[in-house]
Formats: sequence, structure tokens, C-alpha cells
Amino acid sequence: MTDLKRALGEAVEAAFAAEGLPVELARVTPSDRPDLADFQSNGALAAAKRVGKNPREIALAVAERLKDDPRIAAVEVAGPGFVNLKVSEAALAARAAAIAADARAGAELVAGPRKVLVDYGGPNVAKPMHVGHLRSSIIGECIKRLYRFRGDEVVGDAHFGDWGYQMGLLIGAVGDEDPEIKALVEGLNASGDAQSAPPEAFTRVTLADLDRLYPLAAARGKAEPDYRDRARKLTAELQAKSAGSYLLWRQFAKVTQTALERDFHALGVDFDLWKGESDVDPLIPGMVADLDAKGLLVDDQGARIVRVSREGDKRELPPLLVVSSEGSAMYGTTDLATILDRQQGFGPDLVIYCVDQRQADHFEIVFRAAYLAGYAEEGQLEHIGFGTMNGTDGKPFKTREGGVLKLNDLIEMARTKARERLHEAGLGENLPPEEFEDIAGKVAVAALKFADLQNFRGTSYVFDLDRFTSFEGKTGPYLLYQAVRIKSVLRKAEAEGARGGDVAVAEPAERDLALTLDAFESALAEAYDKKAPNAVAEHAYRLSQSFSRFYAACPILQAEPDVRASRLTLAAATLKQLELALDVLGVTVPARM
Ligand code: ARG
Repeated sequence: MTDLKRALGEAVEAAFAAEGLPVELARVTPSDRPDLADFQSNGALAAAKRVGKNPREIALAVAERLKDDPRIAAVEVAGPGFVNLKVSEAALAARAAAIAADARAGAELVAGPRKVLVDYGGPNVAKPMHVGHLRSSIIGECIKRLYRFRGDEVVGDAHFGDWGYQMGLLIGAVGDEDPEIKALVEGLNASGDAQSAPPEAFTRVTLADLDRLYPLAAARGKAEPDYRDRARKLTAELQAKSAGSYLLWRQFAKVTQTALERDFHALGVDFDLWKGESDVDPLIPGMVADLDAKGLLVDDQGARIVRVSREGDKRELPPLLVVSSEGSAMYGTTDLATILDRQQGFGPDLVIYCVDQRQADHFEIVFRAAYLAGYAEEGQLEHIGFGTMNGTDGKPFKTREGGVLKLNDLIEMARTKARERLHEAGLGENLPPEEFEDIAGKVAVAALKFADLQNFRGTSYVFDLDRFTSFEGKTGPYLLYQAVRIKSVLRKAEAEGARGGDVAVAEPAERDLALTLDAFESALAEAYDKKAPNAVAEHAYRLSQSFSRFYAACPILQAEPDVRASRLTLAAATLKQLELALDVLGVTVPARM
């Protein structure tokens, strides 16, 4: 089932071919003047330049070839040579009916499905999350859903940061505070089994302890060289799987992961895999030997590095630090080993790293090293970066206390605001309290996610919960409200025994709605190709607006039976498509509000 935009594009291509014109110029786009036409092709202008003819003449010849196409009600040449197309009522009605009958609401599947791994979220043990993690989670979740919806086989991996220097800092800090734990760690490190059950005392360590200790330890590590050296030593001990350090670390990872999984879930972010940097540790010795054998490893002041700069680089790219002078694996080391691990496990055709733009160099370095070592093929690894979510001061958002963001607090803040907004709008108030709470949660998530995803990911935006949670304007809650409204119309119809039926699109608002429904496929294709969720967000918004105009102009339940049946089908198709689009964005619609 082809969308109208593509079908007409093919018709214009055929006309170009018949005129001996370059077909690749025969592009069809939605009309700039929806009052005059539905679609337009500007190809005659470029073609005229190419073949040295008058553009209007070319446009007229193309139009002549299109005018008998039954899908086209009118074709006109405007201005210097634009071809304006109006779709016939029959073609538009047929397309709307097909969308209504299709479980995917007119969305195509990709021709050659791929195996895609999305690396996103990237939270760390104990280190608090910042807005970069939030955006990575929201955008990554959407990319995962979008690719899956297009038919790819997709796995989302949190790539938990659990193997770095912060672990040594924490092992030291926890031991300083609790001498019993310190003694146990030292004893087990001297003679113990990393596979054995952890001592009871280790299970005393809570996430609150880590949250409290980490900032202090991080600050001391910066200020005091001795403290830093000890943390490095402790990190190396952990990475050598010394039993005491290892078992204590497992407790850190466990308490952090449990809390994070709960908070991510509340945000509608669920990873298929929750693998950590530590999981690839066993691959590192073999990888280092392999890099060495391939002649890629260079000694550099006691450390071992891979040089990745290329001729023609505009600026000097630092090398990949594989083994530090203390003998530790670094952030890039685990990333390189993870490429191998994923190759052996899942075998992805494409790995998308959805991580803060500030890590662009890091990924460029890792990718180049992977290509040099033959661990991946050029183009198989892709970093998609994004800007930051800022406070009103224009700097990355911080809490009122100036601290970094806690996912749980952010969601709570959004929920509180959502409750307020629901009360203001008089929504959900007569519903049972648990249902009201569930709705508030959905409104909060919709607000946060839509505010993020409606921007092209490269741009930064300002955190403004008041605006995000409003039921008016371009917001998540507005979209939920529209979807719920359609649900309620459909419920009422059902109660009255009214059913959907053949589609007709006579009224301008009906035409507009059918054309908007048709545009779902191209919005998805654009989002997929450019890895730009905002195209789907934009479509969801336009669809809601279009429905709103339709609903105002075209009575449904009060209409004549035939008209009512047609409009009910249009409403049901809209709801299905809107819910699918929102699902791709990671947003769930409540049954009512
Ligand atoms: N844990 C990292 C951080 O907080 C993000 C991980 C991103 N993914 C990756 N494969 N490096 O910065």
C-alpha cells in the first residue's frame, strides 16, 4: 500500500521519463499552498536548467501527461514552472480507508530489515545522572522504538558505567567510613574467592550511602594526589578481580541498578539489555594482545595507546588510551571491547550510540580504532549526538539546590505539576484516585518526552515544566488530550450502536485530515533516515491539529448515517495512527481523563 505522496511521485517520474527529462528531478512534496493544491513538483525548474529549455514549457508538457491520471483531480502549472497537483476525492477516500483498515495505519516496513543495536541511557554506578543521560534515554528509547516499528531487529543496551575510576573512589570512601568493611575487603583481597557470596556487612551499603559519599570522594580525588592515587590503585585491584573489592563492587552495582531500573521504567524507558562496562572485562587481555599483534599498540610514557589520526584531519585527534600507566582499562578500552562483544553476541549491522554531543571525539577515536583493528566496518558504528536541556540561565539544567538531576526527582516534579494541570483543566477529577494517579504519571512522561523530542536532537532547549505540562499548545499533554477525546467519541458511538463504514472526503476538513493521515509514512521515513524523532513528533502534532479542525467543522454523531459512518472511520484511523506515533515517541495514552 503506497502513500499518495510516493504514488504521485512515481506518476511524475513517469511523465518526466516520457518527456526525456532526468527522473531524479521529479520530486513531489506537500504543497506550499494547501489552499491551491495538495502536492507540488518543482522539478521542471531544475530540469529546464539541465536540458536548456523553458521551465514553463516543460511543466506544461508534464502536466499534460498527468491530467488523465484518475488519482489526480486537477493539475496546474503555476509561476515559473511549478506543477500543482490536487488529489481526486476517490483516491483520497481510498487511501484513508486503507489506512483505517491497516493495523500499522499506513506505515510501511523497510525493505531490508537490519540488526540494529542502540546504545543509550548510559547511567553510571553511584555517579549521579545529568541531563545528558536524560536526553540519551528519551531519544535512545525513541530511536529503538522507531527502528523496531520500521521492521528492524533492534536491541537496546543501557551500557551501564560500572568499571571506571569512580569505583576505586567509592571502595576507598566506603572503607574509610566503615572499618569492618575495609578489613573484610583487605582480607578477601589477600585470600578470597570472587565467586563466593558477599559478606553480610557489604549488604549494609545502600544507594543513599553511595550518593552521599561519591561527591565528597570525587572532590578529594581532584584536590589530593594521594587520595587519587589510592583510588586508582583500588580501581586496578577491582579490575584484577581481587575478591574483596570485587564483591563490594557488586553490591554498589546492584543497589544502583535496582533504583535506576525503577526510575527509568517510570519514565517509560526500558532496556532490553543491561550490560555493563565490566561485562567485557574478560575480553580485554585478548583484545590487547590482538591490537599488539596487529602492530597498532604503541607505548607512551608507560601507557599503551592506539594512534588514530588520519591524513587530512582538520585537527589533531588524541589517541585511544587502551591501558593506563597503572594497568587499568579505560572508558575507551571497554567501549572497544564492547564492539567485539556485540559482534560475537548479536552481530549488528548497525550500532547507534545515542550519547551527548560532548562525547563526539571519544566515539570518533573508538570507531577509528575499531576500523583499524578490523572489529567493525566503516559506517557500521554511528554516534548520534544531541544538545543539552538547559536551565533558564542557558546552562545545562540543574536542580534548584544546584545539584545534578535525579531521575526520580524530575519525574516527581513533573507529576506534581501534571496533577495541578489536570485539576486546573477539570480533568480526571471524577475518576478513582488510582486512575487519576496513573493519568498524572502518563501526562508527566508525555510532557517531558514530547518537550524533548519535538526539537531536532542537535538543538538545545530550555527546561520549562509550566509550558511542557500545559494542555494547550505544542505539548505532550495536548496530544494525550486529543487522543482521549477521540476515544470518548468512539465510545459514545459504540454505545449508540453507530459503526464505521465507507469513507468519503467531501469537506475541506475531511480532505485535510485524510492528507495528514497519508503523511505518516513520509514522517516515519524521514525520522528513520535522519535519526530525527522530531519528524514523528511533528506529525503527531499536525495530526491532532487536523483532527481538531475536522471535529469542529464536521459533526460526527449527529450526521446522517452514511456521513457518520465515514467520519467514525476517519476518527478511528486518526486514533490508531496517533497512538502508534505516540508509542514510537515512548508515550502512552490513558483510556480517559
Ligand atoms: N556512562 C557514560 C557516561 O556517563 C555513557 C555511556 C555511553 N555509551 C558508551 N558506549 N560509551 O558518560
